[in-house]
Amino acid sequence: MRTLISGGTVVSATGTQAAEVLVEDERIVALVAPGSEAAAGFAEGARRIDATGKLVVPGAVDAHTHMEMPFGGTQASDTFETGTRAAAWGGTTTIVDFAVQRKGQALREGLDAWHKRAEGNCAVDYGFHMILSDVNEQTMKEMGILMDEGVTSFKLFMAYPGVFYSTDGEILRAMQEARGCGATIMMHAENGIAIDVLVGQALARGETAPRFHGTSRPDELEAEATARALALARVAGSPVYIVHLTTTGALDAVAEARAAGQNAFAETCPQYLFLSSEDMAREGFEGAKYVCSPPLRAKDHHANLWRGLRTNDLSVVSTDHCPFYFKGQKELGRDDFSKIPNGIPGVEHRLDLTYQGVVAGELSLARWVEVNSTTPARMFGLYPKKGVLAPGSDADIVIYDPSETQTISAATHHMNVDYSTYEGMSITGRAKTVLSRGRVLVEDGRFTGEKGYGRFLPRATNGYLQ
Ligand code: URP
Ligand code: ZN
Ligand code: ZN
Repeated sequence: MRTLISGGTVVSATGTQAAEVLVEDERIVALVAPGSEAAAGFAEGARRIDATGKLVVPGAVDAHTHMEMPFGGTQASDTFETGTRAAAWGGTTTIVDFAVQRKGQALREGLDAWHKRAEGNCAVDYGFHMILSDVNEQTMKEMGILMDEGVTSFKLFMAYPGVFYSTDGEILRAMQEARGCGATIMMHAENGIAIDVLVGQALARGETAPRFHGTSRPDELEAEATARALALARVAGSPVYIVHLTTTGALDAVAEARAAGQNAFAETCPQYLFLSSEDMAREGFEGAKYVCSPPLRAKDHHANLWRGLRTNDLSVVSTDHCPFYFKGQKELGRDDFSKIPNGIPGVEHRLDLTYQGVVAGELSLARWVEVNSTTPARMFGLYPKKGVLAPGSDADIVIYDPSETQTISAATHHMNVDYSTYEGMSITGRAKTVLSRGRVLVEDGRFTGEKGYGRFLPRATNGYLQ
């Protein structure tokens, strides 16, 4: 099966060019000059996709999702089926989700459970990171085994004591192991011990509304934990990737480590670029829709996060997609903000939201592709299979209309959740046609993919280590 995508502007992490994209079966075979003989020859018998006036970009890679994640006595509302379908609608053709090891479990048990959840259900290709919540000699041995199975990154938590939390000693030990086996440690950097004190004090004062989730997780405690994670990684000699970074202080710590040559990396998420602590303070219980950790911050961090994306101190935009219904799930914390399940939906709108950064002049087109696709693919061992339009790469391709306008709404989104944190936001740009390994998943406003098409992706190691 041949497909010829013609008339579009191909955008890569290094720039833009007018080119035709030639696809055979699941792979890209060539990019050629528009109207060239090679294109004409290939066109015979090929399906043609007209991309005139559109951008042709590599399928986006979301390196941070939580489908079906158990949290706070409930479970994230998107399954692998519904969440990956919504991802495809938004131009994301690969997710890397977090398998969870619970305290007392073997890594094997956690990983097997996540394979079972995902297998046969995903509309797009998927890989796994492993959440490591019990550091002991047995689980340290298992890290190497998981590496051999293509699970090459492990998330540790400095937050959530009693659930996912690891002590500094445990973190150091896991980082030492990561150094030995070539893994990347991903870090949820918030000082959970101090936060628990502040949460208890807030509740004792009767401060139960959603906005107190934010005031009890001050940005200093993210900056402090980030600096500590970086120091522990330096001592262990392991790479570290700070997930969902939200604050200027944490960004400064990452920038300093990177300037000193450390293998330190960080991501941010659209919610930290577009939403703020003011949303958590919305009237009544509305603010619960915006409760996630780290919390949304004051608006004055936004400009610095956009700057970090330009300077590459923030290398990736991920969604941290972890949706909970407002009715019946977020409501668990109606009388106590600490019982609101942490997390917000986002897997469908990352390309669109960051494209608003292109419209506003915050990011170049090339950088937009780089932070959404090329860098996450390379950071998590999927490049050049994913993240680039090049001969031999998977034909994961998004034909993006840069001029169509749309209004984000829960009434029209495809995520399995009853609200949108961007309700009513009018934006420019939309993924029109989405291909995964040469197969059209979304076209003409219709989903043409299917549950079970997505394959598990064993991943190589981090492609950025110096
Ligand atoms: O609030 C969030 N971020 N929920 C998902 C779990 C995590 O820490 O990434
Ligand atoms: Zn986290
Ligand atoms: Zn997360």
